[in-house]
Amino acid sequence: DDYELGGSADFMSKEIHEQPTALSRALSGRLNERFATAHLGGINMDPRELRAIRRVKFLGCGSSYYAGQMGAQLVEELARIPADAEPASEFRYRNPVVEADTLYVALSQSGETLDTLAAAQELKRKGGQLLGVVNVVGSAIARECGSGIFLHAGPEVSVASTKALTNTATSLAMLALLLGRVRDLSTADGKRIVAGLRRLPDQVAEILAQEQAVAEVAARFADTRSMFFVGRVRGWPVAREGAQKLKEISYVHAEAYQASELKHGPLALIDNTMPTVIIVPDDELLSKNIGTIEEIKARNGAVIAVTNAELPEGLADAELRVPRNETELDPILFTIPLQLFAYHLAAKLGRDIDRPRNLAKSVTVE
Ligand code: G6P
Repeated sequence: DDYELGGSADFMSKEIHEQPTALSRALSGRLNERFATAHLGGINMDPRELRAIRRVKFLGCGSSYYAGQMGAQLVEELARIPADAEPASEFRYRNPVVEADTLYVALSQSGETLDTLAAAQELKRKGGQLLGVVNVVGSAIARECGSGIFLHAGPEVSVASTKALTNTATSLAMLALLLGRVRDLSTADGKRIVAGLRRLPDQVAEILAQEQAVAEVAARFADTRSMFFVGRVRGWPVAREGAQKLKEISYVHAEAYQASELKHGPLALIDNTMPTVIIVPDDELLSKNIGTIEEIKARNGAVIAVTNAELPEGLADAELRVPRNETELDPILFTIPLQLFAYHLAAKLGRDIDRPRNLAKSVTVE
């Protein structure tokens, strides 16, 4: 184990810090500047077939499902095709309507998650068009899907997924770019996304270099019993993933909510014992998110803002900073400080970070 850890305190920390290199591998050879698109050799569909897709559905469990939600947003934004994500575990049991012109995409780091495999098998039985976005080559889901995108994240050991989620979301950004470029995404916009994707590995490294600052914020909130994680649109899957990470490794209760829905119930829980982590990209929803922070502050709730915007001085109690990229790619970067936040809060509480109680790295049984 010592050898594999290579000096890191645990696998989660090692894998968090591997993200810039893991990301570079995922992007390597897959971006085409000249045609402003992605080249995904594992997808055996010609432009005509890609154009015939009328809907995209992402299926996965846990962090893979949240990455799918990020992917759905990217597909709608870049390709203007209706897209959504659903837990594979729900999909497989609800006798879903399978449509011929929908592209189904199974997402799995391990390639062995039983629910995701069962969903893929059900789709094959019903004649659905299926791709796999998988890390482990030769795994059951990779074999079942037959074509798709490999993550090239390298082995992931920590139960809490980090680099696999980052590479999944990035792979789905490339898929969205490809689907967009056979439709109406302009060359200029395609180039903008290609350049943005290329910047990601260095920007992730930039976030990781601020680890100490994130650790200090986490320590300030380590005696909290419950937290909200809120975001809007692109920020919503980020909030869900951030809450999930915190729960699973620190055992602190965390609830993710759409920031826009707070006032329809959860705001009643806000007081000085309930901090909120809010995802605040500098995008078209910035003023809405600032409004949400003000509503929380008016109820004496502490606010930790994950942001690349210049927020009014003193508005948030703490800020976790993220570099600027193209807004469509924000979810990929905004997830990183939340990994560090959960990690350091759990470390402060003395948790067994790589092996959280009651959880398994891959759930291969019912
Ligand atoms: C388990 C792990 C999660 C992971 C999920 C899906 O619940 O604890 O970290 O996201 O399985 O795993 P997969 O290998 O299919 O991505």
